Amino acid sequence: MAEQTWVRLVTAQTPTNIAVIKYWGKRDETLILPVNDSISVTLDPEHLCTTTTVAVSPSFDQDRMWLNGKEISLSGGRYQNCLREIRARACDVEDEEKGIKIARKDWEKLHIHIASYNNFPTAAGLASSAAGFACLVFALAKLMNAKEENSQLSAIARQGSGSACRSLFGGFVKWIMGKTEDGSDSLAVQLVDEKHWDDLVIIIAVVSSRQKETSSTTGMRDTVETSLLLQHRAQEIVPKRIVEMEEAIKSRDFASFAQLTCADSNQFHAVCLDTRPPIFYMNDTSHRIISCVEKWNRSEGTPQVAYTFDAGPNAVLIARDRKAATQLLQKLLFYFPPQPDTDLNSYVIGDKSILKDAGIEALKDIDALPPPPEIKDAQRSKGDVSYFICTRPGRGPILLSDETQALLDPKTGLPK
Ligand code: DP6
Repeated sequence: MAEQTWVRLVTAQTPTNIAVIKYWGKRDETLILPVNDSISVTLDPEHLCTTTTVAVSPSFDQDRMWLNGKEISLSGGRYQNCLREIRARACDVEDEEKGIKIARKDWEKLHIHIASYNNFPTAAGLASSAAGFACLVFALAKLMNAKEENSQLSAIARQGSGSACRSLFGGFVKWIMGKTEDGSDSLAVQLVDEKHWDDLVIIIAVVSSRQKETSSTTGMRDTVETSLLLQHRAQEIVPKRIVEMEEAIKSRDFASFAQLTCADSNQFHAVCLDTRPPIFYMNDTSHRIISCVEKWNRSEGTPQVAYTFDAGPNAVLIARDRKAATQLLQKLLFYFPPQPDTDLNSYVIGDKSILKDAGIEALKDIDALPPPPEIKDAQRSKGDVSYFICTRPGRGPILLSDETQALLDPKTGLPK
């Protein structure tokens, strides 16, 4: 086999997701088994996704990976677990066009090259590991002709990063915590696809932050060891909330959905505060965003927007429809205008048509926005938000069959 020079490539694209009922706390650190079920919404990959190309060739002498163009080590346990689990499920591959034949048993000896790229800044703290591990596992499964369904693949992606298992599907997704010790029943299932509730519009405020946050992995370990509130949450609160959330999603009941989403985000951050030493993920800007949404929702008499925050200060705001999203964007831009030298095109990214609906075509239109009536003495502060991303619920992983989209060179198997 060593003299052969072929390279087989597969490229996939996988979305990121945001939990509306949070995963926080593991009952098994190695297998990544959670202490409760969680539910997420998948974000449109057009605006936030990972693209990964995986390659195999008899000429590769070791497994290698490049993330956003820079080579990184694959020696970590999480990568190794995903690679081992997928290799164990590899099957025969035959590509007649390229004259490639790989027998099931060959996969143990063959090495892999992986190149991965996020279409959003990794540093923004937008669940890049979720999309990343989901994409790695999905792409490897296709490369190695593994026959597993996406739910089965989610149980492998879970071993890379817990939240990654929910990125194997579009729409709304539930990660079932499972009961067995080997984790085989801890996997993701799709509740509804992205078309089921397509009124929803999502605006993410990427909040400026100077401090380096505690990683989710470390944070949740400390919480499990020290917080009594977590036990109450996992055993008493979340099981009931999961049932109510599934019902709210299925019946597109925005009022219940928003109430549950906000309450669960706030409880997750309360559990962080109940950790020793306490963990602070939200900052003053996050708190101001919450208060702006709460006041507006109250003044309308029925929720227009839900908010949720992960392990960082960024706000993910889910608006009930386009009209609410347009009003929300106007309010957000009133409170958090850009610095004077900012380009409007890079301050609001993603689906820019919402910006147009909001009547904003230039920076001067932001300066001219009227203060939201529900808040007296509204303060404006430049620079507290780095930028906004307008998006929506989106689809699950796909294969990109066009080789020009591959991140690895089809002849050498090295980054292009
Ligand atoms: C706050 O999946 O990043 O985003 O399993 O240790 O890799 P590991 O943690 P990770 O935790 C995500 C936590 C969260 C809530 C959520 O996504 O459910």
